[in-house]
Amino acid sequence: MKDAVYDEFIDRLRSECDIVSILSDYVPLKKKGKNYWGCCPFHHENTPSFSVTTEKGFYYCFGCQSGGNVFNFLMKIENISFFDAVKMLAQKMNIPVPQKERTAQELTREREITKLYRVNEMARDFFYACLTKTAYGKTAQEYLQGRGITIEMIESFKIGFAPPAWDKLVQAFLGRGVEQDLLLKAGLAVQRNSSEGVYDRFRNRIMFPISDVRGRIVGFGGRVMDESQPKYLNSPETLVFNKRHILFGFDTAHKFIKECGQAIVVEGYMDVITAHAFGIKNVVASLGTAFSPEQGNLMLRLSRDHAIEILFAYDSDSAGQNATSRALSILRNMGANVRVVLIPDGKDPDAFIRKHGAEAFKVLIKDAVDFLEYQIKQAFDTTDHSNLEGKVAVVSKIVPVLGAANNAVEVNAHIARISQALSIDESAIRSEVRKFLFQNKKDKNVKVGKNISNIIVARTPSVATEQAERHIIRLMCEDRSLISHIQTNLPVEEIQGEQRREIIELIFNEYNMGKNIVDNAWTMSLSEAANAELSLIMLIDIQYNDIVKMVDDCIKSMRLTKLKGLYEQHRLRADELQRMGDDRFLQELAESQRINNEINKLHYL
Ligand code: CTP
Ligand code: MN
Repeated sequence: MKDAVYDEFIDRLRSECDIVSILSDYVPLKKKGKNYWGCCPFHHENTPSFSVTTEKGFYYCFGCQSGGNVFNFLMKIENISFFDAVKMLAQKMNIPVPQKERTAQELTREREITKLYRVNEMARDFFYACLTKTAYGKTAQEYLQGRGITIEMIESFKIGFAPPAWDKLVQAFLGRGVEQDLLLKAGLAVQRNSSEGVYDRFRNRIMFPISDVRGRIVGFGGRVMDESQPKYLNSPETLVFNKRHILFGFDTAHKFIKECGQAIVVEGYMDVITAHAFGIKNVVASLGTAFSPEQGNLMLRLSRDHAIEILFAYDSDSAGQNATSRALSILRNMGANVRVVLIPDGKDPDAFIRKHGAEAFKVLIKDAVDFLEYQIKQAFDTTDHSNLEGKVAVVSKIVPVLGAANNAVEVNAHIARISQALSIDESAIRSEVRKFLFQNKKDKNVKVGKNISNIIVARTPSVATEQAERHIIRLMCEDRSLISHIQTNLPVEEIQGEQRREIIELIFNEYNMGKNIVDNAWTMSLSEAANAELSLIMLIDIQYNDIVKMVDDCIKSMRLTKLKGLYEQHRLRADELQRMGDDRFLQELAESQRINNEINKLHYL
């Protein structure tokens, strides 16, 4: 949806819509001063902190920090995509949506996708009928029964069976007029080597249909009923089946995940089916062990502010453990809350729930451990620490974990526990962590060194910096002639707030490309968080006599805070080095002196 007509249309919707009347359908609003106020629909509150500015077309909640334009609001409150929000707003305003012109290529692709969904659905029904209505299905039914899979579970997951023959599905489908080419494209049939013909991909397997979010069948997993290999055969990647984007069970689990704010990710089909059958319905499988950021996004998107907690309950074998660590770091990079469910005696969730029941599994969920704890536990579990050598090995595994953590209080508590468990002096562990941080600093120059100062000085941007950055943004929005002056005097890397950096970068870019940042179109490419921040910025009261002086004061204040922080860091490093008898403390001291001079100069400017 990137054509100019469409962009213009969106702009028109935004500028012509009355944001107060649209939002009033969801929130009672009252005018107070320039803005409108109400109780935020996104979090529970009794006194209004949700405000709307008609002039700029933004809303912002001071209670939960959510904010944005009319589209952001509709997306969030209706839980719909941007495109659907546009359609909805157009409908509310009684303006027809312009048809986007599609190329012949796009049309062919769309038709093919529709056909793929249809043939997959046919295949699901075919496998299901084979299992439940034919003589072939007998052994398969017995197998499932033996694994405790009830008729209800077969019915609700539409589990099926691929008959033990070469071309039952192919023959049946060709007979019904399905093109051979489509069977190949759907991954249901495979080309013969020797001739033109094709044969069934899935033979003599229990079939698990895989759906996308909207419940459309995109592929299959097929399990053998004995020990032969491969245990599972899955559909190949097709136009509609991309494993990275699919979570098994998500089509039913998503509403439960949304409801309880928590998702449980397991490895396999059987884990999902059993959990659901036992009433634990916020469970999905990543289809094997490799978890992707896209899969993370599917779950995180269910709530504003990515507030869904994601628990991993992978198998406790070593493949499962490695996969858990990888998944955790992917999700933590996405800013998600993650924990790990520890399943005792090497069982997978399927086996555990069957043996101990749903309540016991809920206890494991409640006791799930956080990332730091999990890594420490891993180090203990994978190393024999009964002798001194083993203890040293455990410590050397844990030290980098502690070094990378950013909550000093938590780290301290862990150090105390580890020292007890290993009967090693706390101070010995602490000094190892310190050594690690310094070592790392040398290797990567500065990057990790900041951690050690972190333990002492918190690095949240100061209030003064925050305010200065907000003012700068607001001023640029009010008067675009300031942008070039600000661009020459303010290095973007120096902006402390991540969202504000995003906003400022975008303003600079748009400006450099000759676009007009006074209308609001440019904000569409901001992330949700940045949009919220921008809405807040638009609402703050700002007063000045001389706008250029105000800008310069902001830049100066930001520079000062930054220099003071740097000064502090170099001083701390100097102290630490001196204590360790490292001569380089002199260089650090000289550097801190140099910074101090700069600070003094700025003060007298
Ligand atoms: N998997 C796969 N291909 C394989 C093995 C596994 O795609 N050759 C995926 C499947 O999605 C499977 C998951 O990895 O469900 C977990 O594998 P595993 O633990 O072996 O299977 P379970 O689901 O536990 O199945 P079962 O209980 O029937 O052994
Ligand atoms: Mn398993």
